[in-house]
Amino acid sequence: MKVVTPLKSVNLPGIDDYAAQHTTPDPAAMTALVSETYETLDLPEMLSGPVVARLLQTLVHAIRPQLVVDVGTYSGYSALSMAAALPPGGRIVTCELDAGRAGVARRHIDASPYADRITLATGRALQTLSSLEGPFDFVFIDADKVSYYDYFQAALRKLAPHGLIACDNTLREGEILNPDTDDSGTRAMCAFNDAVVNDPRVSCVLLPVRDGISLIRPVS
Ligand SMILES: C[S@@+](CC[C@H](N)C(=O)[O-])C[C@H]1O[C@@H](n2cnc3c(N)ncnc32)[C@H](O)[C@@H]1O
Repeated sequence: MKVVTPLKSVNLPGIDDYAAQHTTPDPAAMTALVSETYETLDLPEMLSGPVVARLLQTLVHAIRPQLVVDVGTYSGYSALSMAAALPPGGRIVTCELDAGRAGVARRHIDASPYADRITLATGRALQTLSSLEGPFDFVFIDADKVSYYDYFQAALRKLAPHGLIACDNTLREGEILNPDTDDSGTRAMCAFNDAVVNDPRVSCVLLPVRDGISLIRPVS
């Protein structure tokens, strides 16, 4: 058999910037939300950003989901990005524990053309996931990292046969290569990534996009 040298990883210095420069930018309507997030909220780096937003929109556009669950609203960026790509009749439930962040998100959702498609559920995302009626067509997991496996299990239970789960930050800025770290979020992510790749119920691909996005689908 011919020996083929695998392609090298593209995650070289400057590649993320190049990817962002060659990705459709956020619409102007998102400027107010992003500015307010940077000016008034803590941890603005939690915004998933334009590359992830375009990826989510592309998936939503292709899947044409009727029900999307956004686990981790923050200021509403991922929910509003996905809402813009929903098919007619599609809706999003977005989950946020923190009342202050939920308040910012609610204002921006109400001011958007997508208010009728987005329900903001305040409280623990696990409770919201268990209270919602499925099937879920698309689930974006981007809340507290230590609970990813619980979110995954709860989402999978109600996932449509052709549904998809996307999980953000599965590379933890490369820290997953250091599983002995003291950081509980990174240790949980290592355990989560190992559990998912060994789970016979699903097939997954970990994309080294920005901070890592894992796409997980059920197998029959
Ligand atoms: C990384 S941010 C979400 C970013 C957002 N998806 C975006 O793209 O801009 C994570 C959010 O999850 C929220 N969160 C943390 N634990 C939660 C829980 N148990 N239930 C619901 N939300 C939670 C945090 O308050 C935070 O706003």
